[in-house]
Amino acid sequence: MSGAATGRERERPPPGARRAVVFAFPGHEMAMQRIAVRIGADAGALVLHRFPDGEAYVRLDTPVEGCEAVFVCTLDHPDVKILPLLFAVDAAKGLGAIRVGIVAPYLAYMRQDTRFRPGEAITSATVGKLVSGVADWLVTVDPHLHRHASLDAVYSIPSAVVPAAPAISAWVAANVAKPLLVGPDGESAQWVAQVAAAANAPWIVLEKSRRGDRDVEVSVPQIEDYRDRTPVVVDDIVSTAHTMIAAVGRLREAGLAAAICIGVHALFAANAYEELKAAGAARIVTCDTVSHASNGIDVNAAIAEAVARLIGV
Ligand code: R5P
Repeated sequence: MSGAATGRERERPPPGARRAVVFAFPGHEMAMQRIAVRIGADAGALVLHRFPDGEAYVRLDTPVEGCEAVFVCTLDHPDVKILPLLFAVDAAKGLGAIRVGIVAPYLAYMRQDTRFRPGEAITSATVGKLVSGVADWLVTVDPHLHRHASLDAVYSIPSAVVPAAPAISAWVAANVAKPLLVGPDGESAQWVAQVAAAANAPWIVLEKSRRGDRDVEVSVPQIEDYRDRTPVVVDDIVSTAHTMIAAVGRLREAGLAAAICIGVHALFAANAYEELKAAGAARIVTCDTVSHASNGIDVNAAIAEAVARLIGV
């Protein structure tokens, strides 16, 4: 969680520029270093502890008075992470930071963006209000925007969305000879179309119906023209992996080769990863927004650029 962004490649801010400090929550040291190098910041020392009764302890061991402060914390398993993150951001404010931002490569609670049944909590709105009430800005990668056109509908602070599509397209172009990009549902069209355009490949979208957390069905449209291609299923979130599992199965039944599965955010609840492998995925690759064995697509450079733009360096 601590260390200095040292080395010859480090860029110092121009004279007179404000000092910046970047803090990493556990597991984000690499992303923190990339951001620190890009914006010419110091690496901050952050101390986290969980008391025996479950309460969180947070301490900043690097002074932030008069500084830009940045906290890098992805929000998988959000219920244990959000409060310590908000404590850290609020502490930085209390300690005199002039602006405090959050880099959350995976932004949780974006899927419950409406009341699907009467009485439900719209958790995306509540988390949006909590974070916007404490932090000054937010950077994330491909948040699950379905019913909202932009993050501004949920977060009232300035934000930047880093698209994973360019990095995914580059991976597909380098690793798959004749790809057919496949979105498992209508919502995925936004990512799949971008990936396909940059990889110069055709794309299709399946029709999905979800009856429960692990009860997912998809149907495949006409694929006659694509029989000689390798299907590459691209989705933003892989949680139970049942969306991917259903897609892999139906594509195989339709006569295509075993599918390659690409996820932006590797949540992989319980045995989801093993189940997806057992379902016949030829390969499973994810972006490194959530640390997982399947990470193979680096989006940290794009995140660092977005932070630099947002704070004006
Ligand atoms: C849904 O709207 C998302 O884009 C993903 O398709 C979904 O979250 C995947 O979930 P699971 O892996 O549990 O099927």
